[in-house]
Amino acid sequence: MIVLLLGLLLVTILFWLIRQQYSYWNRRNFPTDPDTHIPCGCLKSVVKHEKSMGVAIYDAYLKSNSPFVGVYLLFRPAVLIRDPELARQILIQDFSSFHDRGIYVDEKRDPLSCSLFGLRGQSWRSLRQKLTPSFSSGKLKAMFHTSDDIGNKMIAHLNKVLPEEGSAELDLKDVFVTYAIDIIGSVIFGLEINSFEDPKNKFRTLVHKARRNNLFSANFAMFIFLCPSIIKFMFRLGLKNYTAVGLRDIMKETIEYREKHNIVRKDMLQLMMQLRNTGKITEDDENWTTKPNAATGEQNEFTIDHIGAQGFIFYIAGQETTSSSAAFTIFELAQYPDLLARAKKEVDEVLERHNGQLSYDALREMSFLELCLQETNRKYPLPFLNRECTQDYTIPGTSHVIEKGIPIVIPLLGIHRDPQYFPNPMTYDPDRFLPGSPNYNANAYMPFGAGPRQCIALRMGMINSKLGIVKVLQNFNIEIMSRREIIIDNHSVGIQPKGGVKVRLSKKAQVQN
Ligand code: HEM
Ligand SMILES: *[C@@H]1O[C@H](CO)[C@@H](O)[C@H](O)[C@H]1NC(C)=O
Ligand SMILES: *[C@@H]1O[C@H](CO)[C@@H](O)[C@H](O)[C@H]1NC(C)=O
Ligand SMILES: *[C@@H]1O[C@H](CO)[C@@H](O)[C@H](O)[C@H]1NC(C)=O
Repeated sequence: MIVLLLGLLLVTILFWLIRQQYSYWNRRNFPTDPDTHIPCGCLKSVVKHEKSMGVAIYDAYLKSNSPFVGVYLLFRPAVLIRDPELARQILIQDFSSFHDRGIYVDEKRDPLSCSLFGLRGQSWRSLRQKLTPSFSSGKLKAMFHTSDDIGNKMIAHLNKVLPEEGSAELDLKDVFVTYAIDIIGSVIFGLEINSFEDPKNKFRTLVHKARRNNLFSANFAMFIFLCPSIIKFMFRLGLKNYTAVGLRDIMKETIEYREKHNIVRKDMLQLMMQLRNTGKITEDDENWTTKPNAATGEQNEFTIDHIGAQGFIFYIAGQETTSSSAAFTIFELAQYPDLLARAKKEVDEVLERHNGQLSYDALREMSFLELCLQETNRKYPLPFLNRECTQDYTIPGTSHVIEKGIPIVIPLLGIHRDPQYFPNPMTYDPDRFLPGSPNYNANAYMPFGAGPRQCIALRMGMINSKLGIVKVLQNFNIEIMSRREIIIDNHSVGIQPKGGVKVRLSKKAQVQN
């Protein structure tokens, strides 16, 4: 009898707690989605594997028309910022109330979690300042030939797989993923790497495991984002991210080898070694030395584990984005013959001016391709940005308060495909970004985020995507295809195309002389 009563009491309390949790927004009179699903909120379709998280947040964007709306990410109340002006206010002017992402990080016990992406507050600010010089245009220029080399290896590979006569359908996403992984392996990890010839190399094998889209990784990513404290607990119990550990070990080996043999290579690893040994990365683009500076006494704050954490996040943040931009651009150009013709003409003309030499400066002159990339990054952005509220915040012009600790979600995919900001959003129209006569709402365009925490490597990402596209345009014919949309994989976090990005390519006819 007692057991039964206790059981009943427990169920009642549980029921009350759940009701309490899911009435968080109603109790505060906050605009909210009227049909909130218990127990998953707006992520019900993700939990049921019917949608990716990005598309679920896009759906939540479409369902409402208020500038901001209270939603539930599983059981966590969060605010969806639908209005681009308010989003910018939060990301830029009111950054001091939203300076963190709120994802898992454990500074005391897990240095491998201390990436620029995850770090909070002062620790983030200090690291951001230190790393910024490594993405200057002078540094990127010095690294350009490494990317160019990898571009050539990609071309050699395509020449091998394409038939002499006629065309073949290829998954360009797959090709550009290999290209992007090799650039990161080379420019950031300092490896001599050619995955086109040796696809089973140590680096690629390691990262390939982490790339697989499966139920586990989709759910795990959601948890890193939604319940950092549970993840922290699991890591303390001994869970290890073997990819991160493996990448750290690869870097450690290279660092030790370089230090032993006094090798200086112009890459990001060298700059992080400089940071580790001298306490800073110099603004001087000619100075790649890593000789310890005894005066600062700062050397050991930034350890090999910290280098590993940055390498890991640069890999995660750089690989998918760079390869998607390049693949989606060619996928779209293949559907618009006149745009494709303009792009090819531009590549030919600029290369002619530069005696056939593709350089950093030649790439910068390709302004139509720049518009194409802008349009690709509009139509296929990272589906959302996120922040955590770091001090109670009253939404300007209202009496609504966002409390400290509440996650903020900015539905970038929804905003970037909203016809009120970008007319005919599903049409691929690079000319909407024409500097003289833009046809879009500039406030609504944030492919690299905005404010102090925007992408630190936007130039690097643009350059490498552009380089990959130019290599393909320069060497192959792209077959025109009918209009189509990619299908987004249900288990992905970003815009992961189901079945790849298929385009038909053929070799250019040999010029006889
Ligand atoms: C076309 C390529 C890329 C796109 C579209 C892109 C997009 C983004 C976006 C949307 C954010 C979030 C910004 C925000 O929350 O306001 C971000 C952050 C970041 N990205 Fe990129 N990214 C690209 C390439 C790269 C590359 C190549 C790297 C590294 C080598 C990189 C490293 C990072 C890092 C470290 C952050 C976090 C910055 C911080 O919190 O201080 N990204 N990126
Ligand atoms: C995603 O799941 C839905 C519902 O189960 C299904 O109809 C759809 O075909 C799936 N999409 C993909 C790309 O797998
Ligand atoms: C390790 O990190 C990768 C990349 O973010 C992720 O896909 C994987 O689920 C993580 N695994 C663990 C055990 O943390
Ligand atoms: C190079 O940069 C390091 C780190 O900032 C600095 O300690 C060193 O003095 C610089 N060397 C030269 C020759 O400028």
